[in-house]
Amino acid sequence: MLKYESVDEYANALLGGEDEALTRMRSEAEEAGLPRIQVPPEIGRLLTFLVKLSGARRILEIGTLFGYSTVIMARALPEDGSLVTLEVEPRHAELAAANLARAGLADRARIEAGDARASLAAMSGETFDLVFIDADKVSYPAYLEAALDLTHKGSVIVADNVWRGGGVTAPRDDNTRGPARFNEMVASDRRLLTVFVSSRGGDDATSVSLVV
Ligand code: DHB
Ligand code: MG
Repeated sequence: MLKYESVDEYANALLGGEDEALTRMRSEAEEAGLPRIQVPPEIGRLLTFLVKLSGARRILEIGTLFGYSTVIMARALPEDGSLVTLEVEPRHAELAAANLARAGLADRARIEAGDARASLAAMSGETFDLVFIDADKVSYPAYLEAALDLTHKGSVIVADNVWRGGGVTAPRDDNTRGPARFNEMVASDRRLLTVFVSSRGGDDATSVSLVV
């Protein structure tokens, strides 16, 4: 019998998957019937890495769910750093708020409940060092436009789920058309230097763009 079912499992065992607090958050969210679509450990590690490497002090997250990636990024911030996360589903925002409080991060991370497009429009003029997009896939192009308005040279714009099981290579619905358009936009925008980091056994990827 093989010790690991996949190389992701091997790498996560080697490099560290999730700690007890994150495991608890995940199982409670599952019990509450939330979708099991939080970032996998390899993307959690990528987010920690990018926050540290970029020296980000201000983070914007679009799509909170129950605050799994929120906790991961907020932990990686310096003491005086701050994070704003946008969530359309009130029940998700509530659970995420409880999770942030329990993780001792409530002073560093703020949840804004409501439609992300409206929240983003109201943020005009603010700047962030790192933006993480992980929300409704249809709106990825709009979220990228907003992220470009809210960042500066040296900022990092990250987006989860940009391959969609390969669906973006021949988009057939809005959930693949959104990320496919997003990918074309980051690829052709001369302000951005982009890499796709594959995850979930190559089924999906996270896009990482440096604003140059
Ligand atoms: C879906 C959304 C996600 O953010 C994800 O990581 C996986 C799947 C979805 O809506 O299908
Ligand atoms: Mg995702």
